[in-house]
Amino acid sequence: MSLIFEVAPGGQLQGSLRVPGDKSISHRSIMLGSLAEGTTVVEGFLEGEDNLATLNAFRAMGVEIEGPDKGKVTIHGVGMHGLRAPAEPVYLGNAGTSIRLLAGLMAPQAFDVTMIGDESLSKRPMRRVTDPLTSMGAVLLTEEDGSPPIRVQGGKKLKGMHYQMPMASAQVKSCILLAGLYAEGETCVTEPAPTRDHTERMLKGFGYEVRVAGSTACLTGGGKLTARDIDVPADISSATFFMVGAAISEGSEVILQHVGINPTRIGVINILRLMGAKLSIENEREVGGEPVADIRVRGSRLKGIQIPEDQVPLAIDEFPALFVAAACAEGETVLTGAEELRVKESDRIQVMADGLQRLGVDATPTPDGMIIRGGAIGSGTVESHGDHRIAMSFAMAALRAEGPITITNCDNVNTSFPGFASLAMDAGLGISQRSG
Ligand code: S3P
Repeated sequence: MSLIFEVAPGGQLQGSLRVPGDKSISHRSIMLGSLAEGTTVVEGFLEGEDNLATLNAFRAMGVEIEGPDKGKVTIHGVGMHGLRAPAEPVYLGNAGTSIRLLAGLMAPQAFDVTMIGDESLSKRPMRRVTDPLTSMGAVLLTEEDGSPPIRVQGGKKLKGMHYQMPMASAQVKSCILLAGLYAEGETCVTEPAPTRDHTERMLKGFGYEVRVAGSTACLTGGGKLTARDIDVPADISSATFFMVGAAISEGSEVILQHVGINPTRIGVINILRLMGAKLSIENEREVGGEPVADIRVRGSRLKGIQIPEDQVPLAIDEFPALFVAAACAEGETVLTGAEELRVKESDRIQVMADGLQRLGVDATPTPDGMIIRGGAIGSGTVESHGDHRIAMSFAMAALRAEGPITITNCDNVNTSFPGFASLAMDAGLGISQRSG
C-alpha cells in the first residue's frame, strides 16, 4: 500500500501561507548543534522524515536532543569529540544530504559506523564524497558501484587538502569542509559554480572561521563550535510548488511567508521572472545570518525560455516544478547543463519527461536537460517513483489540466513537506489522498 494523490483539474491558489522549514538548514542545525559546546535551540525545524533521520542518527551517537515540538528542537551539544559509537547501523532513509554530510563527519571519528538508506538512497552515487575523503586519509567502503551502505572505519587521522570539486554540489563541498574541521592543517574546496552556502554560513554562526574568496572556501582543522540559536526560514524549495501553482493559474495570488532567499537558492525566482511570472519580494530581512522575505506571486501568462546555465545549481531542486511551468508556457523552454538531475531522489529528467508525456505534453528529455513545448495538459495517472518533488509538481500541474491527475507512490512527500496536501487544499487545490 502506498499513498496516492488524486487532483481535480482547474482552480486557483489563494492566501498567505507558510511552508515548512528549510531542509538543508535543518540538517545542518542538528549536525553543528550536536558538535557544539553548549545548548542550541532551533526554531522552525523541518519535521520531515529526512531531517528526523539526521536527528535520530545523532541521538544514536549519544547526543541528547529534545523535540521536535512544533518546530522547536533543543540540542545539548557534546563538543567536537563527544560523539559515541552507535549500537547499530545508522538508517538515513531517503536523505542524500544526510548520508553525504555525515560521511565527512564520521570519517574522522574514533569509532566505526555503517550508514544505510532506503531503496532510492541505496542507488545514489557516493564516490563523489568517498574519493576525496579517501585522499584525506579516511577509510570508507561502499558497494562495488559506489552506492551505500557506507562503512566508515574510525580512528583515522585526516590531512587537510585543496579540493577542486568536479561537479557543482553543496553536499560534496559541505562533506569535505566538515571533514576538514578534524583534519590537520587547511582544507579548501573550490567549486565550478556557486552552490548553496548554508554550511559556510552556519559554521561562521557557530564561531568557526571560514575563509571564502571567490569560488573557494577554506577552514583550518582543530577548532571548536560554540552553540547558538537558529531560526530556520521556510524552505524556498517547498515554496516553489505554490509559486509555480500560482504563476500558472489565472486569478491566483499567494503570499509565501518568511521564505529563505539566500542568493545561492533563488534560481527559481530568477527563472520564473524570465518566463514572465508576476512575482515580488517583500519585507526583506535577515534572520540568523540568512536572508528571508515574503514572496507574492500572481497568475500570469508565462513564456518559454532558454534557461541560463548559471541558474542551474541555484535552482537544482526546483526543476520538476519548473518543468510544469514550462509545460504551461507559450513556446519552447530549453534546459541544458543539468545532468545532476539524473542522480537525485529519482532520475528527474526521465521521470518528469515520462509523466509530462503521459499527460500529453510535448517534452523531450536530453542527456543534460529537457526541451518542453508549452500547450495543453491532459489528464491521467503519473508515477512519482517515490520522489517527493515529482509528486508535488504533478499535483500543481492539475491547476491547468483538462481532467483529473492521479499521482502514485507519494509517501515520500513526507521527507521534505509534511502537510503538503492539506496546505495545498486550503490554498485551493482540489487534492485528495488515499492509499492503494
Ligand atoms: C543539498 C544540496 C543539493 C540539493 C539537495 C540538498 C544540501 O544536492 O539537491 O536537495 O543541503 O546541501 P547536491 O549537492 O547533490 O546538488
